[in-house]
Amino acid sequence: MSHTEDHEGTRRDFLFYATAGAGAVATGAAVWPLVNQMNPSADVQALSSILVDIGGVSEGTQITVKWLGKPVFIRRRTADEIEMARETPISDLPDPVARNANIDAGAEATDQNRTLGDSEEWLVMMGVCTHLGCVPLGDGAGDFGGWFCPCHGSHYDAAGRIRKGPAPENLPVPVAGFLDDSTIQLG
Ligand code: FES
Repeated sequence: MSHTEDHEGTRRDFLFYATAGAGAVATGAAVWPLVNQMNPSADVQALSSILVDIGGVSEGTQITVKWLGKPVFIRRRTADEIEMARETPISDLPDPVARNANIDAGAEATDQNRTLGDSEEWLVMMGVCTHLGCVPLGDGAGDFGGWFCPCHGSHYDAAGRIRKGPAPENLPVPVAGFLDDSTIQLG
C-alpha cells in the first residue's frame, strides 16, 4: 500500500467515526437504536443493543459505529486479509486468547475464533486500543496489515490481534451476530 493510500484510509476512517456519532455511518450504511416506545427503559435498551446495516459495506472497507459510547469497527475483509490472518500460527501471537464475547472465554485466537459467526470476511471488534484506549487507525494500517495505534505504536493484524507494541491484548470482539445477510446486531 502506498503512503498516499494509507493516508486516505486514515482520513476515511476518521470521517466514518465522526459521522457515526451523529447517527448515520456511511453512504449506504445506517445504524439505528432498537427502541421500544412503550417501554419506560427504552433509552437503556437503545444503549445496550443496536442494529447496523452492512449492506453498503464493500469488500476491503470498514465502518465505525458508536455503541455504548465506544467505537466499534466492522470490516469486510479482502481475500488477502483472510488468508494472511488464517495462516498466522498461534505461536506468533503475543496474546493467544480469542477475546471473543460470543465464544468460550479461553478459546484460542485463531482467525476463525475472531470472525463473526460462520463468515470469513466479517470482523467486528471494539475500536479501542488495549494499551491506553486510543482509537487505532484501520484499512490495513501498521506492519501487519490490520490496525495501528499511533499513540504508542501498537500494531494489530488483519484479525485485530496484537502483534507488536505495548498493547497487551487483542482488540475485543463484542457480543454480536447476524440478524440477516445485511444486518448485524451489536449487544
Ligand atoms: S493507547 Fe494504543 S498504543 Fe498506547
